[in-house]
Amino acid sequence: MGKRSRQIEAVTEVVPALDPTTRAAVEEAIALHARRPGPLLPILHEVQDALGYVPEGAVAPIAAALNVSRADVHGVVSFYHHFRKRPPGRHVLQVCAAEACQAMGARALQAHAERVLGMRHGTTADGAITLEPVYCLGNCALSPAVMLDGALHGRVDPERLDRLIDACRGDAEATA
Ligand code: FES
Repeated sequence: MGKRSRQIEAVTEVVPALDPTTRAAVEEAIALHARRPGPLLPILHEVQDALGYVPEGAVAPIAAALNVSRADVHGVVSFYHHFRKRPPGRHVLQVCAAEACQAMGARALQAHAERVLGMRHGTTADGAITLEPVYCLGNCALSPAVMLDGALHGRVDPERLDRLIDACRGDAEATA
């Protein structure tokens, strides 16, 4: 049995544990990037872009496809804060914790977000909002900066953050 056949066998052996949508996303990410140089990070990004996180069940097929150990893949997923191990809430709020934003009050903004949402990091119990740290959004000139569902907001103060959070909660109530 050739190397490629072993890889495919290993993938099909493990992937059925994933639901069909998740399996398809993982397989697509592997197919897109596995033959390119340095494929692991692009595959993980692709999976997270598609699913919102990197499921545990994705580790084995990715490792098999790249002929690396599961520990190697786990190591990269764990090293980069960017990769989530669980599905995010309906909204993702990222507060920049890098230097320029800290100099402009990001710590206080983060503390305010934690107080309002009643948690440090993670997802609110109603699944409405995931709060995450992020290290520079490339918006340093307008710090402190936050990103909500992929949209940048600059010069955010607690009142403005409250309005963003209220809008997320409003959505959550409307869809509940
Ligand atoms: S340091 Fe926050 S956007 Fe760059």
